[in-house]
Amino acid sequence: MPQTLAAIPRMPAFDHQPRRYTGPSREEVLAARSRYANPALFTFYREPLMIVEGKMQYLFDETGRRYLDLFAGIVTVSCGHCHPKVVARVREQTETLQHTTTIYLHPGMPRLAEKLASKMPPGLDVTYFVNSGSEANDLAVTMARLYTGNTDVIAVRNGYHGGSPSAMGLTSHHTWKLPTLQGPYVHHALCPEPYRSSLGGTPEQIAAASAADIGELIRYSTPGRIAAFIAEPIQGVGGVTSAAPNYFREAYRIAREYGGLCIADEVQTGFGRTGEQYWGFQNFGVVPDIVTMAKGIGNGVPLAAVTTRREIAEVLAQRLHFNTFGGNPVSMAAGLAVMEVIEEDGLQRNAKVLGRRLRDGLERLAGEHRLVGDVRGMGLMLGVELVADRATRAPATVETLQVLEEARSMGILLGKGGLAGNVLRIKPPMCITAEDVDFALDVLDRAFTAAER
Ligand SMILES: Cc1ncc(COP(=O)(O)O)c(C=O)c1O
Repeated sequence: MPQTLAAIPRMPAFDHQPRRYTGPSREEVLAARSRYANPALFTFYREPLMIVEGKMQYLFDETGRRYLDLFAGIVTVSCGHCHPKVVARVREQTETLQHTTTIYLHPGMPRLAEKLASKMPPGLDVTYFVNSGSEANDLAVTMARLYTGNTDVIAVRNGYHGGSPSAMGLTSHHTWKLPTLQGPYVHHALCPEPYRSSLGGTPEQIAAASAADIGELIRYSTPGRIAAFIAEPIQGVGGVTSAAPNYFREAYRIAREYGGLCIADEVQTGFGRTGEQYWGFQNFGVVPDIVTMAKGIGNGVPLAAVTTRREIAEVLAQRLHFNTFGGNPVSMAAGLAVMEVIEEDGLQRNAKVLGRRLRDGLERLAGEHRLVGDVRGMGLMLGVELVADRATRAPATVETLQVLEEARSMGILLGKGGLAGNVLRIKPPMCITAEDVDFALDVLDRAFTAAER
């Protein structure tokens, strides 16, 4: 049963009055959605939540009830819902020029490309803008194949790279793979994350053996040459999983030995979210050949990008290649505003400091709740794996749903992931405060207690 009102921890004060909602009722929206939307679309919670307004780290339902958003529109709202600067820039651009495509010059696109280059390691300075993470990964793989002349791609088990046919082939969860033709010539190497690895040993040994598996896979399952190795620095949908620091250096070395380019999928880990670094790959001491981005770059505006070296990018120029909305002025204005806000509002530092506070608190809760099997992640990209039994690590899938319900009843929205859906994903807008973190920990403590009963 959800907590009683008397037991609900107090949400930090916030100076924003949501507008009075006058649209169709929640029931009407639900009925219309059930009738007219594709049935594949799913909602969280037994009673689907309707959200009609957002402000910074908070969301509001149609009754005006406020929620602390710890999932950020699936790790997309980097600066905060309706951040005033992003909204102002988007509005200004929408009123001036919304769309022409890249067949004409406009300052927005090269400005954002230059800004991205300024954040990248030297040489990674040419960007192609698209609209979604799936598109970005499709394009990255296409470029890698053209550049290397090879076809096979190595991805990592438990990874998620999108839902387009080609990105679905890269994705490695049967739950996200429709039983139809998907991007072929993809092979999935062992996941280096220690908690569920079938390999024994220390995290470093598991990382080394998992990297070695890439070489095995190439020798046994490909012609011996590959186009690319693609991986998320920290797997997001997979349940905030990552490897010991020795994994990526070795994985990249092996991929390159067999002719492959290394693609870092920064769709979730980019733009300061991991706290210490602007890009996730920087935490692991490697430099990719291609970087794909989406989600946080737009703070909610559909925007994605592929950054690489000029000689790799040039392979697309051998034919016409075009993307109608890629680089459109409104998305570019949003992207530039987002990158400025991350600097001006100190969001990467916030991710580092508050991510530490949150992680320390979660580790304390792990000591008090048998439901918590593992706490992991960096900055404001954290995961809490819930288990029915710590010894067997049996996934606590039902309890995870209950924790989500309990947290919602106390005003907190969480994400979940992992193949068994038993990992809480905590990835809030990077503008959250220390008071929000303490409130979240209080709520989680009570939610765990309720789910353990
Ligand atoms: C790491 C990663 N790559 C790619 C994608 C696909 O992005 P999109 O949903 O914008 O196509 C996602 C989406 O969740 C993701 O998490």
